[in-house]
Amino acid sequence: MPKANSPPTSPVAELGLTVKSQVKTSSGLSAAVEAAKQRFVERNPASAKFFEDATEYLPGGNTRTLLYSAPFPICMKKGENYQVFDEDGHTYTDFVGELTAALYGHSHPLIKESLINTINTVGLNLGATIAQEAKHAKLICERFNLSKVRFCNSGTEANLHALAGVRHFTGKRKVVVFSGGYHGAVLGFWDGVQENGVDKHEWVIGKYNDVEGAKKLIEQDDIAAVLVEGMQGAGGCILGTNEFLLQLQESARKVGACFILDEVMTSRLGPSGLQGIEGLSPDITTFGKYLGGGLAFGAFGGRADIMAVYDPRSPNSLAHSGTFNNNTLAMNAGFVGLSEIWKPDVAVEFNKIGDAFRASLQEVTNSTKMSVTGRGALNAIHFSDNGLTKISCREDIDEDWGLKDLFYMEMMEDGFWITRRGSIAMILDTPQSELDRFVDCVGKFLERHKSLVSL
Ligand SMILES: Cc1ncc(COP(=O)(O)O)c(C=O)c1O
Repeated sequence: MPKANSPPTSPVAELGLTVKSQVKTSSGLSAAVEAAKQRFVERNPASAKFFEDATEYLPGGNTRTLLYSAPFPICMKKGENYQVFDEDGHTYTDFVGELTAALYGHSHPLIKESLINTINTVGLNLGATIAQEAKHAKLICERFNLSKVRFCNSGTEANLHALAGVRHFTGKRKVVVFSGGYHGAVLGFWDGVQENGVDKHEWVIGKYNDVEGAKKLIEQDDIAAVLVEGMQGAGGCILGTNEFLLQLQESARKVGACFILDEVMTSRLGPSGLQGIEGLSPDITTFGKYLGGGLAFGAFGGRADIMAVYDPRSPNSLAHSGTFNNNTLAMNAGFVGLSEIWKPDVAVEFNKIGDAFRASLQEVTNSTKMSVTGRGALNAIHFSDNGLTKISCREDIDEDWGLKDLFYMEMMEDGFWITRRGSIAMILDTPQSELDRFVDCVGKFLERHKSLVSL
């Protein structure tokens, strides 16, 4: 049976990925989702109007697929610290956290000061190298154990350039990736290569956490690289096992392929990212999100010999251009964020808070269709018929999108802003009382909908 209110676009389609979603329904769930939708429409007339106006010039009123949800998305008016405020006057504790980029919140005083100082004393768009870019590069190299790094404007770009670099370096084209992986707008591998994906014929897609399978795929002559997330973020915070990640690194080394670790999301899990926690030494690591201080940012770096392909002094170097690669605002705010706010001890403490938060959620969701996965302050909510708590690859779980929709809309009524797909990227300095309140609201949700969520 189809599930209630299956999304017009699936959560992964939200990311530009394609998926054949399983749709099931129960009449109780349909009625609950319908009622929640009705309340949503009644509570948000201003958002409805903004959406209607936006459809005039933006296809589907949208310029970022993730942010569309039926019947219309909430339109935010502003953000402050850990909160966001919508056009209908509602206040939310922000658990979207700009998909990890808003680590410092929406108005951190040091970030604000840096941006204002930069505008006042440096200016914008100098069309030249600036001293600050080398300072930020040094800091990132030291923190994440890289020999060399280059900047760009997004995580997508970081992965595209990293791939171009390693293909040039190895003289090979094929790259091993994993189903459920997301490496950017045109680099999604939910169910094979997504429709808008680049390099359609260059991918070898393995199963995440399948150690033996991955070994076979990588240990071939024509593999240029392995590209992997240490935890599949957009795929639902599915953790890579240490054995799996180390095997990828070892197999890549064995055949002269490059091991690329995508830390666009996970670099905030510890002082030197997930690679530090898992004892990995990737050939290239890719970054983005909060490392620009809240501005558009991407970076890729690692081994000096590989990164040398981008050295413009050598005759056969690869070009890597981008008008805003070293823009004054991101170079300064990113540096202030990493040097003055996201210090190593802060990273450790904050992720401990995230671990405790997840443990509380796991306790309250125990023996229900809801489960919570993740690491540190990055978590994801799942709803499945069997309430699966151990998920090792995307093939393991068949999400119940009716329940996810119901949860999404009812958590908004309780004043929590989460993604519809259920990811939670915590913002620094979110009060413990709000984390506790969320756990309480989740418990009440499960009690209220006992008949729908019981195993
Ligand atoms: C692991 C991973 N890689 C790459 C990207 C793409 O980053 P951006 O959205 O900045 O292009 C994302 C975005 O969520 C991501 O989660």
